[in-house]
Amino acid sequence: MAKDKILLAYSGGLDTSVAVPWLQENYNAEVITLTIDLGMVDLESIRQRGLQVGAVKAMTVDGRETLVNEFLFPALQAGAIYEEKYPLATALGRPLIARYLAEAAQSEGAYAVAHGCTGKGNDQVRIEVGIAALAPKLKVIAPIREWGMSREDEIEYGQARNLPINASQSRFSVDENLWGRSAEAGELEDPWQEPPEEAFAWTKALSDTPMDPAYLEIHFELGIPTQVDGESMAGIDLISHLNTLAGAHGVGRVDHVENRLVGIKSREIYEAPAATVLHAAHQALETLTLTKEQARTKAKIAQEYADVVYNGLWFTHHRQDLDAYVRSTQRYVTGDVRVRLHRGTCMVVGRRAPQALYQYHLATYDRSDQFDHAAAEGFISIYGLPVRTQNQVQSG
Ligand code: ARG
Repeated sequence: MAKDKILLAYSGGLDTSVAVPWLQENYNAEVITLTIDLGMVDLESIRQRGLQVGAVKAMTVDGRETLVNEFLFPALQAGAIYEEKYPLATALGRPLIARYLAEAAQSEGAYAVAHGCTGKGNDQVRIEVGIAALAPKLKVIAPIREWGMSREDEIEYGQARNLPINASQSRFSVDENLWGRSAEAGELEDPWQEPPEEAFAWTKALSDTPMDPAYLEIHFELGIPTQVDGESMAGIDLISHLNTLAGAHGVGRVDHVENRLVGIKSREIYEAPAATVLHAAHQALETLTLTKEQARTKAKIAQEYADVVYNGLWFTHHRQDLDAYVRSTQRYVTGDVRVRLHRGTCMVVGRRAPQALYQYHLATYDRSDQFDHAAAEGFISIYGLPVRTQNQVQSG
């Protein structure tokens, strides 16, 4: 009789490598690995490792374009930044991983999917709630949550089975995709300790950044960045380009103690050069093109949107409804933003939009002024009426 199949989300690291034999032994099943490129991944070498550690089949998928178009750009348009600090790179990648897992499980006839998340984090929730929404009948197995092995145990377990594992891992737990890099654990767990330089990989230390600033011009169409310095770029290239450029100026470092969904506070180090620049630029363009009321309501929606993403509720009608609102707000968010990168800072220094609500002839103090000064008098009289009334009637 053919064996049952389990589809494992495979990163090539120690945890998921050890998970391959562990699943075979403990679930008496064949394991198929699936490696997903959301940026920064050498798919072929990880695929080979999947086979070396015992997978019967090793699959790969390039998810970058889908990540950008269906997850990153909508979150950018929404202004989604968790707790005003974290642009949500990891959190935005997880629902897409869940989607690819569900699809591959179906096409391969697997009865279960497995992932390498621990039992303390948000990622297990995001993947499993995602699977619940997309393929509710699919069983989910979380070996790391189940097996109770320490890192040393895992290495021993792997060595006993002759797995070609690489135990010289980074000191930190790292997750990366195009939108950013997340690092946690190790010495970062002491929130009083300044993060060591080794915690960073995408951004230069201040002392290594150029003395001279760099200027960038970003063009947006309907709230989506489409050009940098006059050059049209597809999303993946545009984001990668900005990661390199802004990273070289030390832009995009975040040191945050955040509130996890599972109730723990945790200290996280993020690097998100492109996301930092794009959020700043996008928001600047909205200052020209949205009314005060739109901007304020949108800021509330942004917070809700960030919570929804962070808390693993991507595949919900609530998120779709928020997206519908956000998309509607973007219909005039077209124009250019000029940004200055310098010594760890990203500053918006110019913005323009063909349909800007900012009108020079209304704002100016020079001769071309068209604002009706006389009308201000009547406005103040009516506007101040309740204040005068209260003073008359209720003074003393
Ligand atoms: N704290 C972040 C989040 O919940 C990042 C998690 C990163 N995961 C990791 N294995 N390092 O989205």
